[in-house]
Amino acid sequence: MSQELWTSVDRYLAGLLLPADPALDAALNASTAAGLPEIAVSPTQGKLLMMLAQIVGARSILEMGTLGGYSTLWLARGLPINGKLITLEFDPKHAAVATANIARAGFAGIVEIRVGKALETLPEIAAEGHGPFDFIFIDADKGNYPGYLEWAIKLSRQGTLIVVDNVVREGAVIDASSNDLAVLGVRRMNEMMGGDRRLTATAIQTVGSKGYDGFMIAVVRSED
Ligand code: SAH
Ligand code: DHB
Ligand code: MG
Repeated sequence: MSQELWTSVDRYLAGLLLPADPALDAALNASTAAGLPEIAVSPTQGKLLMMLAQIVGARSILEMGTLGGYSTLWLARGLPINGKLITLEFDPKHAAVATANIARAGFAGIVEIRVGKALETLPEIAAEGHGPFDFIFIDADKGNYPGYLEWAIKLSRQGTLIVVDNVVREGAVIDASSNDLAVLGVRRMNEMMGGDRRLTATAIQTVGSKGYDGFMIAVVRSED
């Protein structure tokens, strides 16, 4: 089992299930050209996000961690035309690339990018009366995942779907003695998922073009 094989199988599956897509391809190309790290979700994972939004009938989505807007575009495609997506990004350069990618794909009217540290923009979003959101995707800096999950629950209603990226990290997540802030953040968040009676949660390990990682998926059962 190897990265090479996982990538080949991902390519095989994408060839069957994902027709060529100029807007998404352009978003990835522009992100690479601008020097952004190549850490967006894979195409098959992006389609999963779109389908999950459709399955829950999402009309409003909150995303933490925009990068160049690749996952944002998949999520936006899962919304109805009068839907709304707010995505949070700390790095103004990433936000600028995402803004162009989202406009090119025709989603400028649906997607709003908030630039700043998510732990600072989340209280603003709440204070402005946004939410509860139907679907929340957590994918920003891993060290702050515990705080992001708390905010996600605050901005949820019964039935809200919460999806968290990168919860396995090539297996590093089982290292209880890790000093890596990302691992510590993900581990603490995973523990919250298991211990919070407001959530029904499970996790899926994944391999593919983005290596070995995983998603946590939770449904909010009640707000208290
Ligand atoms: N969701 C994207 C990938 C996000 S990568 C996709 O799959 O296409 C993580 C992003 O979180 C990076 O762009 C990084 O700049 C951003 N980020 C890092 N720290 C942050 C913070 N404190 N608040 C908001 N975003 C942050
Ligand atoms: C990293 C962040 C991500 O969101 C991801 O999907 C993969 C890697 C990172 O910061 O290394
Ligand atoms: Mg990620």
